[in-house]
Amino acid sequence: MLSINSTSEIFVTCPNRCQVYLTQELHDLGYETIDSTRSGVTTKGTWNDCIRMNFYLRTAAKVLYKVGAFDAANKDEFYAGCKDIAWEDYLDSDKEITVQSVTNNEEIDNTLFTNLLTKDAINDRFRSMQMERLNSSKEGKEAVIFAFWSSGEATLYLDTSGDTIAKHGYRKISFVAPLAEALAASIIYSTKWKTDQHFINPMCGAGTLAIEAALMATNRANGLMRSNYSFMHFKGYDEKFYLKIREEAKKNAIHSLKAKIIATDFSNEAIVNAKRNAQTAGVDHLIEFELCNFEDTNIPEGPGVVVLNPPYGLRVGEESDLIPLYKGIGDFFKKKCKGKFGYIFTGNMELAKKIGLKAARRIEFFNATIECRNLEYELYDGTREMGKVVSGE
Ligand SMILES: C[S@@+](CC[C@H](N)C(=O)[O-])C[C@H]1O[C@@H](n2cnc3c(N)ncnc32)[C@H](O)[C@@H]1O
Repeated sequence: MLSINSTSEIFVTCPNRCQVYLTQELHDLGYETIDSTRSGVTTKGTWNDCIRMNFYLRTAAKVLYKVGAFDAANKDEFYAGCKDIAWEDYLDSDKEITVQSVTNNEEIDNTLFTNLLTKDAINDRFRSMQMERLNSSKEGKEAVIFAFWSSGEATLYLDTSGDTIAKHGYRKISFVAPLAEALAASIIYSTKWKTDQHFINPMCGAGTLAIEAALMATNRANGLMRSNYSFMHFKGYDEKFYLKIREEAKKNAIHSLKAKIIATDFSNEAIVNAKRNAQTAGVDHLIEFELCNFEDTNIPEGPGVVVLNPPYGLRVGEESDLIPLYKGIGDFFKKKCKGKFGYIFTGNMELAKKIGLKAARRIEFFNATIECRNLEYELYDGTREMGKVVSGE
């Protein structure tokens, strides 16, 4: 029987196509990965490993600890399989439980039904053991159970995160089309940026990319910005271990940068919001914010990256109006960013053609349901001819 200290399979979810960056993060934390899909990576570990993952991973959404898997062709088999799991090893009856699920089954295509079935199975098991019934909630603020039921197979997990860890807790104020924080972290990992180099982010919007870069450069763990996780509400939660991880993370945080992080936008509201978000993240003093057109951004000497996430017509602004903007980015790269790597994260490949430079890499991403690319440009300085000028991508 599994207990909270047993090693089990852990499925860590991430934004669509970010599994490569999540795999790298898991390896950096010392975890071998067993398998990966477009939306998650399987690894192994104990309950305390889940605590570490929740605390440190920047590209993940949920850390799911597997407690059972069984064949379930119909609702009776699902209920029976679910009731067989030793929930009393994980759940305290004074805690609220929330069940969430993904269901893809011929008989049942309603996740609410799966949630109800799971709760019934758990409560019936508790009743048969003369234990108190569990209170349930839709909020997900305490113990969260996750059921994945697809093609006649069901897997039950303890969702050790609860609220998604794809949100990093600092973005209290948004601006137009902000990137999800875990996606922004993945975009940065996909670049050639090293944390001792300049990170320049014109068109910064709510500041997500610049703030993520500052958190990475100062080795500040996301967990330092959060105080509640689902793992705290399961039986056997090792609070001492959690506090040790927090202390370690605080000690390992660096307080100054070796290079500049610059964030600019031509909207005053964007700059005000980005500064407030950076303040919440505790990195506002590390980022140079400026209200200006992207092409007036100060580009310091030395190695680094220039990363832009311009509007791309599908979500903000109209496509034809944006043609001059994309042409302008190409000119800006050619004239002002020599010696850097330039990146444009966009969901509009027609507009990308207007940049007029040939991308060295076109890195695949999804922003929610929109297929995107992070286009990489090598912007050679005088010694080599700069990124070949082309009439279109
Ligand atoms: C898609 S949003 C960037 C979102 C950002 N990555 C985030 O996560 O919040 C595009 C931003 O480009 C800015 N922008 C558009 N045209 C600009 C220009 N010519 N110069 C500077 N900023 C511009 C907008 O004000 C907007 O904040």
